[in-house]
Amino acid sequence: MKFNQKNNDSQLLVKAVDKFTIKTKYNDNEQFTYKINKNVIEFLCCPSEKNFDLCLFTWKISTLFFTYKEKDLTIDLNTFLKYCPKKYAKNICNIILNKVVLFNEKILSYKTDANDYESNIIFSPMYKPLVDEAYVLACGTKFAKYLQIAPSNVVDIAKFVQLTNQKLQKINKNLKIKILGKNEMTQKGLNLILAVNKGSNEEAKLLLLEYQNNLKNSENIGLVGKGVVFDAGGYCLKPSSYLIGMNQDMTGAAAVVGTIFSLAKNNKKVNVIGAIPLVKNLVNQNSYIVHDIYQAYNKKNVEILNTDAEGRLILADAIAYLSKNYQLTKLVSISTLTGLSARYFGDINTPYWSTEESCANKIKLAFASAGTYCANIPLLPAHTTMVKQSSNLADCANISKISHSDSSFAAAFLKEFSYCSCFTHIDIAGTIEYKKYPVNPFCLVLYNFVIENFNTND
Ligand code: BES
Ligand code: MG
Ligand code: ZN
Repeated sequence: MKFNQKNNDSQLLVKAVDKFTIKTKYNDNEQFTYKINKNVIEFLCCPSEKNFDLCLFTWKISTLFFTYKEKDLTIDLNTFLKYCPKKYAKNICNIILNKVVLFNEKILSYKTDANDYESNIIFSPMYKPLVDEAYVLACGTKFAKYLQIAPSNVVDIAKFVQLTNQKLQKINKNLKIKILGKNEMTQKGLNLILAVNKGSNEEAKLLLLEYQNNLKNSENIGLVGKGVVFDAGGYCLKPSSYLIGMNQDMTGAAAVVGTIFSLAKNNKKVNVIGAIPLVKNLVNQNSYIVHDIYQAYNKKNVEILNTDAEGRLILADAIAYLSKNYQLTKLVSISTLTGLSARYFGDINTPYWSTEESCANKIKLAFASAGTYCANIPLLPAHTTMVKQSSNLADCANISKISHSDSSFAAAFLKEFSYCSCFTHIDIAGTIEYKKYPVNPFCLVLYNFVIENFNTND
């Protein structure tokens, strides 16, 4: 992405009029109006502040950028910031840079004839602080996206750890990275993470990313991301067509890495701890199997009734570990957890479950300011009862034999392992990549969430 800073808007307008002829006029319901001169996108007008909807704006921008997918593209950011309601300037800047990177920059390609695309952002110097922050966020997102879409023979567990370590090195002295391997995890009793990885050809890891840069504030946010570098289902093997996309079963993990990178690189005055369990769910003679019972980090015994419900197992250990060893005020887990949530909520609406209304509201705000749709689903006491009654022998099982609301069962299951009363679980199985428009704004959602809790503008 290249930046062209312009001294003033009028100069910009002259340039646009002189150089290009108007090719297309995009006028959608007279709500948002754009002008496209060759591949330069200018914003002409938008609804009044009262009717302005950031999610709808983001959606329309996505459809527009999609037309210019993998092409050289210039965005006249000045026109967006000028005509959109002022209070959204920062969000719009974040959203646009995010979209430009996801649509117009090559992130990973093994096509031998792949091209590089050049995206340009035109902006006045007054917007430089906004653009600088958004650019770092876009870089964090791009890194997360790379980890997400890479095949699992390219980014396996070891490579995920190595790349993350490299990316987060030396960006902020308040960021510490810890890597736990099999021995440490055995010693600590993180047996659910180890169980899922038993059939794997690689060692499981637990990454801990500690970023403590506001010690005056007691607020401390935990972020847990599911890192299954490939989910074949284990002995409850997925049918062939269901294996497609399972190299992306570590998107939650990637989102946490991208978020913490962005916060640290922007030197945000916040306290966050990321926990990322990394495993591969495969089949061999050591694999965990149905009816096995393992003791979780919090000493609860869990019966395995489906080896394909592996995400909740590794998250359970990470959630228990994080909330027992750190003084957390809020805890968020993010994961591609259930196929059902994808089928039910579709590909643009992200469901989430919270233990308290106050955390639910904060999450909702974080989604809204990232310009992306979310749905708050209740965590009912009945779901918790279902979890507690799910096994005849152990404290609980990893699936319910009777439940038809699997996504909510999974949420209630995770809650049983959180020692932080303000717990939220976000299920991104359906929304990591919309068929047509890359949605995937989760670094931005988590980034907004963290910042919100510290109420800081620096
Ligand atoms: N990683 C999958 C969930 C998933 C499915 C993500 C499709 C993205 C697209 C998860 O580990 C899984 O296999 N879940 C099972 C749970 C079931 C066995 C209770 C599922 O959704 O089928
Ligand atoms: Mg699975
Ligand atoms: Zn999975």
